[in-house]
Amino acid sequence: MTTLKVNGQTLETDAALDTPLLWVLRDHLGMTGTKFGCGKSLCGACTVHVEGSATRSCVTLLSTVVGKDIRTIEGLSKDRSHPVQRAWVELDVPQCGYCQSGQIMSATALLERTPNPTDAEIDSAMAGNICRCGTYPRIRAAIHRAAELIKTGGAA
Ligand code: FES
Ligand code: FES
Repeated sequence: MTTLKVNGQTLETDAALDTPLLWVLRDHLGMTGTKFGCGKSLCGACTVHVEGSATRSCVTLLSTVVGKDIRTIEGLSKDRSHPVQRAWVELDVPQCGYCQSGQIMSATALLERTPNPTDAEIDSAMAGNICRCGTYPRIRAAIHRAAELIKTGGAA
């Protein structure tokens, strides 16, 4: 068995150590908020945080994340109250929704290291997250809105 730290909890899995983290999360731990898109680190749908950094879980082997802090979309909040989730709802960002959990995890990682990102910083941080529905303008607006919500303690 391998022990993992996911969303502040200690969890065990019997997955082989060369299993990509995405499959461990979805198939072994039942956390299906993280999505499979390309499986090749090309689309960003599978983005989670490892030690606070946006990480493509489809190409991250279980053996490399043992003992590290892993956060998935399920770990942001239980009730969509995280400022990034609130901004996403307020601005109606998703269209089909498939890419959005990865978008939200990349946006959250960006705001944790750059609380007031410029448009250029947003575009650069989000460049690896593909949205076939073209929701990019709303994603950018929602990141600015989430930055405001974080700055004002969520009261804005
Ligand atoms: S599924 Fe991981 S980057 Fe596309
Ligand atoms: S909302 Fe459909 S792929 Fe992004």
